[in-house]
Amino acid sequence: MKRVKTYIHGLDDILQGGIPQGHIVLLAGEPGTYKSSVAFNIIYNNVKNDKHVACYITLEQGRESLIQQMSQMGMDIGTVGSNLSIVDLALIRKNLEKLGQQSWMQIFKTYACNLKDNIDYSILVIDSLPVLTILAEFQNPRVELFHFFEWLREMNITCIIISEMKMGREEYGNMGEDFLSDGIVLLKMEKVSDVNMQRRIRIVKMRATEHSSDFFTLLFGKAGFTATRVISE
Ligand SMILES: Nc1ncnc2c1ncn2[C@@H]1O[C@H](COP(=O)(O)OP(=O)(O)O)[C@@H](O)[C@H]1O
Ligand SMILES: [Mg+2]
Repeated sequence: MKRVKTYIHGLDDILQGGIPQGHIVLLAGEPGTYKSSVAFNIIYNNVKNDKHVACYITLEQGRESLIQQMSQMGMDIGTVGSNLSIVDLALIRKNLEKLGQQSWMQIFKTYACNLKDNIDYSILVIDSLPVLTILAEFQNPRVELFHFFEWLREMNITCIIISEMKMGREEYGNMGEDFLSDGIVLLKMEKVSDVNMQRRIRIVKMRATEHSSDFFTLLFGKAGFTATRVISE
């Protein structure tokens, strides 16, 4: 089975090499837990090292802000050229005008499909699912999300969907996205002393993979992301 590496040192071994190609994976966590950075790290390194073509659709953070943040973290898109597309709401809106009276979701899908025809990306990041559902004005979230996942599967790509969790509420899956997805990766901020916090990562679910369900410490440094065993007292 082909796998897409996460390029988080230590985590790919835990995942038998990475995320199975074609999986739809939910990346869930509270604000500031590195969701966007981890997702970007995956596509950036896959484009750079493994000849993948990827697309990052950012609906929360503007394109320039994301590019700047990632560049500060050592991921300069200048080095990967046109094989990594970053699309934000402003860009979609620009195209939206040409598409006339269609629903937002229809426009989103048309945009994603056109881009697939043009650059043939194999990995897609959607940042984030809650914003997508707000923009799409889902009337019946469970049913509409089910159809959205069906549409995603037909694209035959590996997809990372970011799910925002509210502070202090370890909750995701309100619309059934937890059982619709093939994998769930949880990012967490953990209090380790009165004053210190540590970031954690846990594979909650990954279909077709034998993996540990433990929390690992997630560190970011010069060499990028690393997942290490939590040293418990
Ligand atoms: N240059 C940097 N190096 C390391 N960490 C950074 C850097 N810039 C920002 N951060 C950290 O990244 C966090 C934001 O990460 P991000 O991936 O945007 O989180 P999320 O998408 O989960 O909200 C910031 O709160 C900060 O702690
Ligand atoms: Mg983010």
